[in-house]
Amino acid sequence: MLPLLGASNLHREHSDLFKATTSSIKQLLGNGKSQPTDAGPAVVYKNQRIELRPNESVLNGLLRSGHAIPHSCQAGACQSCIMQADENSQSALSAHSQAALTPAQRQQGLFLACCTVPEQTLHVSLPDSQTRPVTHATSSDIRPLAQRVMQLSLACELRYEAGQFVNVIVDSTRFGRVQRSYSLANAYQTGAGLRLHIKCLDDGQFSHWLTQEAQIGDEVTIEGPHGLCYLTSDDCDNPSMLLAGTGTGLAPLLAILETALAQEYNGDIHLILANKTAGDFYALELLQSIAAQHQNLKLHFLVKKNLEQEDLVQDEFVIDDVKNSSKANNLLVNADVYQYLKQLPLDLSRASVFLCGAESFVQKMRKACFLKGASLKKIKTDAFVAS
Ligand code: FES
Repeated sequence: MLPLLGASNLHREHSDLFKATTSSIKQLLGNGKSQPTDAGPAVVYKNQRIELRPNESVLNGLLRSGHAIPHSCQAGACQSCIMQADENSQSALSAHSQAALTPAQRQQGLFLACCTVPEQTLHVSLPDSQTRPVTHATSSDIRPLAQRVMQLSLACELRYEAGQFVNVIVDSTRFGRVQRSYSLANAYQTGAGLRLHIKCLDDGQFSHWLTQEAQIGDEVTIEGPHGLCYLTSDDCDNPSMLLAGTGTGLAPLLAILETALAQEYNGDIHLILANKTAGDFYALELLQSIAAQHQNLKLHFLVKKNLEQEDLVQDEFVIDDVKNSSKANNLLVNADVYQYLKQLPLDLSRASVFLCGAESFVQKMRKACFLKGASLKKIKTDAFVAS
């Protein structure tokens, strides 16, 4: 067993503190006002008609009516609430309710119940297991990567694209069934299994399972892969690549980086990691060794926090690690990552861009990349929200 680590933080995947967004809480509670139930669209599930309240999502309407619908983030990020509209209802689905899904999933009438506030009545069901495949895996390694980040390795065979994520379902003796979403941190390779980077929270259920209960050989269930922020051959046709992230946003970026390099991508790759403190960086040795072998990879580390003496002592070893890296000559303290990007000598008009990490970072960075010349079509994002 491993000790429960570190202080709390949040992210879509990679941390597991359940926090419904303000809007989803309001929807769930009906904004504290009594709501009419006799008008407007409804959802029909298992032959039961449920009148939806104004602005109520399909998910919240079903949960309010006592149906056990799988869900987690309630923010359109984890895809655990995927449902299927029947053939006659599919034209009533909005683009927003299917935006995060693949064209094949859209064609099957799948949609995210937490993102769907229908204008017409929808007839829905839970997708069958063929539409929503699960994979059985066993934990093969559990190790700390940093004070608050653990790596969980899973033995299983699952085909996925670099940058995608999976839902991981475990049985906790304390909390029962716990499901969280995590990005895959390694390039796909037959027999290599899956690596996940997990930000540990003091009060996180998945963190508790991982640090207090999990043993090598434990069985876990994997659902997915999901996500559209992944590397394609078109991305590798561009002469440069920008990978930027915060915290455990490094996980999908690492998978993308490893995959691009394995495919002998020889354009310039800039990896920008921005964190609040130097102690939030991890996997430095790995990054250093990749950079040492690939001259086209440039590492940029930015620390936002105004470091006090105490922080300097605490984070000293990380700062030294970063400074000592032969390629990490861009460690900036008190740096604004958006300003930094602005003055970086990099032509984004012909670059593939991947942004992963905190939601606010992803949104602002997307805008900054666009203003620097990136095509919105070439910017792929994976915004982490608390789940
Ligand atoms: S609960 Fe709907 S996407 Fe996460």
